[in-house]
Amino acid sequence: MNAAALDSAAPLDVVRPSGVGGLIIDGKIASEQVLAEVAARTKLLAARGTVPGLAVILVGENPASQVYVGAKGKAAKSCGFHSVQHDLAATTTEAELLALIASLNADPAIHGILVQLPLPEGIDSTKVLEAVSPLKDVDGFHPVNVGLLGVGDISRALVPCTPAGSLVLLEKTAAALGVKLDGLEAVVVGRSNIVGKPMVQLLLSKNMTVTIAHSRTKDLPGTVRRADVVVAAVGRPEMIKGDWIKPGAIVIDVGINRVPGEGLNAQGKPKTKLVGDVDYAASIKNAAAITPVPGGVGPMTIAMLMSNTLRSAERAAG
Ligand code: GUN
Repeated sequence: MNAAALDSAAPLDVVRPSGVGGLIIDGKIASEQVLAEVAARTKLLAARGTVPGLAVILVGENPASQVYVGAKGKAAKSCGFHSVQHDLAATTTEAELLALIASLNADPAIHGILVQLPLPEGIDSTKVLEAVSPLKDVDGFHPVNVGLLGVGDISRALVPCTPAGSLVLLEKTAAALGVKLDGLEAVVVGRSNIVGKPMVQLLLSKNMTVTIAHSRTKDLPGTVRRADVVVAAVGRPEMIKGDWIKPGAIVIDVGINRVPGEGLNAQGKPKTKLVGDVDYAASIKNAAAITPVPGGVGPMTIAMLMSNTLRSAERAAG
């Protein structure tokens, strides 16, 4: 993959020229494409009598969670879904939360249930996530969905939203570049249950040769240098260096890290900025294409939550 040659050939769609090397993968445009398709299919389903319903449960007053949950509700409404939000006090007991989940499991108007994490101390997250019906588990965190993905039954599994969105970006980019993923070397850096492990399964389902690397990997630079596709999900700011990126590789950066910026903001406080797990400025010089942070994988996560909810509703409608 020759980035300079591709700059002029690639469609001005999900990828666009950077002017300094590889292409920029635009997660906002890709997420808008996914959301438009979800909205169109929702119209068809609603005409047959089923409106997808998404219930989001927020326990306590974590400000970041409030922002995320608000964005999920807004996206659900824009897709034409029935959207409900349950705001529970931080003092809510595990038993009360489990009772709410049981009632949502039994509610035919609800096709997706999302319990926003983290939960307050004293509530067992594993027990709560396992209480959600696997058929309504739009986060893809229930062991049944983890198992279905593990055995490669992607058509039945509800897949976690961030790796699912990363795969959509990768496939759209590969299509724009005219590259076949089949047989290529992928390296996933990070082994979390929410991103790294499901990402490995998804890449395997595309017949890629997949390596999972992590903080104990002996030769991380050498491992990443082999990769035609790098997926970074370690949660460490700019840990993946530009000279680790094989010329022509596609880089999907899942990390979102807040670090000190330059100067002071309007309130006189030191500015901060968001960076990924990849040193973007250095890596774009080698990569064929790379996701920026912000504006790369981030917008895809909510789009895939809508996609999962629609799939769940389509399945319920038969
Ligand atoms: N908190 C941060 N990200 C997520 C997510 O993807 N799902 C849930 N349920 N909670 C989160």
